[in-house]
Amino acid sequence: MTEKSTYVFLCDSKKIETGKEATFEVNDREVLVCRSDKGELFAVENRCPHANENLSGGRFRGGYYACPHHGARFELSTGKSMTNLSTKPLICFDIRENGGKIEIIVPKKEKKKFVPGGAPPGFGPM
Ligand code: FES
Repeated sequence: MTEKSTYVFLCDSKKIETGKEATFEVNDREVLVCRSDKGELFAVENRCPHANENLSGGRFRGGYYACPHHGARFELSTGKSMTNLSTKPLICFDIRENGGKIEIIVPKKEKKKFVPGGAPPGFGPM
């Protein structure tokens, strides 16, 4: 069964002013929401793919976000990594404003799938 993607209420628009950011918990995932100086909204998972640290608290400028830990830089509209520190992108979420409210789509995190090829149950380390 597939999960239906629908926007859900996140917060009032005035909660995130231009040039500011905030974190939220949605569907058991921590989400970082940033608003650019031009008023654009971006939403990404609050996890840096370089070393799985929190991304929030970094430097946000011109649609790009620099991780506070080692400085990896990402394009917020696509999640694309702009440095060699990470080959993986950020996970981006759909976000919009609707009548003074910010709405977002955050799918549930997929559980890791079993990858065959290991020792059968009962063998190997316990
Ligand atoms: S954890 Fe973000 S750059 Fe290393």
